[in-house]
Amino acid sequence: MRRVTLICWCLAFGYFLINAEGKVYTKCGLVSELTKLNFPRTFIGNWVCLIESESGKNTSKVTNRANGKQGVGIFQIKSKDWCTFSKNGGICNVKCEDMMDENIKDDSECAEKIQDEFGFLAWDGWKRSCKGRSLPLPPC
Ligand SMILES: *[C@@H]1O[C@H](CO)[C@@H](O)[C@H](O)[C@H]1NC(C)=O
Repeated sequence: MRRVTLICWCLAFGYFLINAEGKVYTKCGLVSELTKLNFPRTFIGNWVCLIESESGKNTSKVTNRANGKQGVGIFQIKSKDWCTFSKNGGICNVKCEDMMDENIKDDSECAEKIQDEFGFLAWDGWKRSCKGRSLPLPPC
């Protein structure tokens, strides 16, 4: 194989690997997952709105935030406050890396803990897009 061809294959495969890490939920896929994870039905509309606003339902979303913090995963859990990189820490006592994979069970436990302590107001995306709206369970 020519070297150029080989490089192209490696890039394509690498891209595939990176992309395969994340998952982007559909709205109804998300409703079904949150139901399975025992989120109270009356709040699922708010959680879906929050997730759409914060991460676009992308489980591997990472964004830079103020004060050198990062928002990680589908709930945009904030590093330093709620999780720490490379070891368990923050309010949720979890690794931020674990908030970026496809498994959203641990993310959900952390998000519910934050909501218990601070309410939905802990999320700027919720304040911006969901606050004050009537958000019933999406019809699926
Ligand atoms: C999901 O987020 C990751 C990390 O920010 C990004 O690389 C990927 O392209 C996103 N996926 C979609 C479909 O937007």
